[in-house]
Amino acid sequence: MTDKYIYQEPNIQLTNKGVSHWQSPSNIALVKYWGKYNNQIPANASLSFTLNNCHTQTKLSYEPAAIPSFEVWVNAKRELSFEPKIKTFIERILVYCPYLSNLRLKIETYNSFPHSSGIASSASGLSALALCIMDIEQALNPQLSEAFFKEKASFLARLGSGSAARSIFPYLASWGATDVFENSSDLYATEFKQFHTIFRDYQDTVLLVDRGQKVVSSTVGHQLMNDHPFAKQRFEQADYNLSILKDALIKGDLKTFNEIVESEALTLHAMMMTSAPYFLLMKPNTLAIIEEVWAFRKENNLNLTITLDAGANVHLLYPKSEVNDVLPFIKDKLSRYCEKGLYICDQVGTGSQRINQ
Ligand code: PMV
Repeated sequence: MTDKYIYQEPNIQLTNKGVSHWQSPSNIALVKYWGKYNNQIPANASLSFTLNNCHTQTKLSYEPAAIPSFEVWVNAKRELSFEPKIKTFIERILVYCPYLSNLRLKIETYNSFPHSSGIASSASGLSALALCIMDIEQALNPQLSEAFFKEKASFLARLGSGSAARSIFPYLASWGATDVFENSSDLYATEFKQFHTIFRDYQDTVLLVDRGQKVVSSTVGHQLMNDHPFAKQRFEQADYNLSILKDALIKGDLKTFNEIVESEALTLHAMMMTSAPYFLLMKPNTLAIIEEVWAFRKENNLNLTITLDAGANVHLLYPKSEVNDVLPFIKDKLSRYCEKGLYICDQVGTGSQRINQ
């Protein structure tokens, strides 16, 4: 099934050095992926908004070498602590990208969002790196179609971090085999194009509640779904929610959108609270924000909605037309719940892009 991703062209050894440079954004899941099988196969399909301002820029310099090696630089500093994760990633994708075993690589990355803000840089970082690696493949095989380039980039990104598979595509991307989306796959993400125009510039303001290290990593959280008492129901519910959400996205039905998105966020955390061992990633300020948002929304008849990632930060989703109501509310009422008063204004974006040298 995965053979088509194994690079098999006769031209396998690069003779020239080169540089590739990509920018790739983070994403926020609307229907959450939580639980996986071997080889990064998701237990349920998921759907996310691709963000714009929270992104990683990665420059990959490569040159032929008898002994392969790599270095990782983050914000212009050599970052040895990132190298084990990248090593695992490269080892995992080597079977699909054998040309990497004849190269010396220098990976230089810059994140637009503050380091340890609690916003995972793995989705943006690994998708940017996967795209750079596909540039090497294209240098070897210029016949590569654009569609295959993106599909394989998403396939490779998935092997680094599941949610990274979705960051390649603009606006809305789904990942995981489901009857809800045509051409969906467990191996890579695909773009969902049929959505209502209101979502093209939907706002996401990320309230940075807790910037510390998470008590339980996503890797462990996914594993805990293996023997979770509610796993089966959860995976079925995710598929059902996807079908309802798809319809709401097509129609621009914000009431249904809000209900599904909030239910998904709370269900994600409910899974954490009911696994064995159980754990909590929300903080008191996470709950305080949610309650303030619900009261403000009701009072002002707005569409402001919350979602959560695997952490304490709160993502506020709302249509652009509500910016003038929501931003003063965040500044006056919600920023006090954020560490150092910090929040990041982002919105749905156009996905990854090549940076011209
Ligand atoms: O991609 P991972 O392994 O870090 O898992 C991400 C899981 C969530 O962010 C909680 C949900 C999602 O679908 O992005």
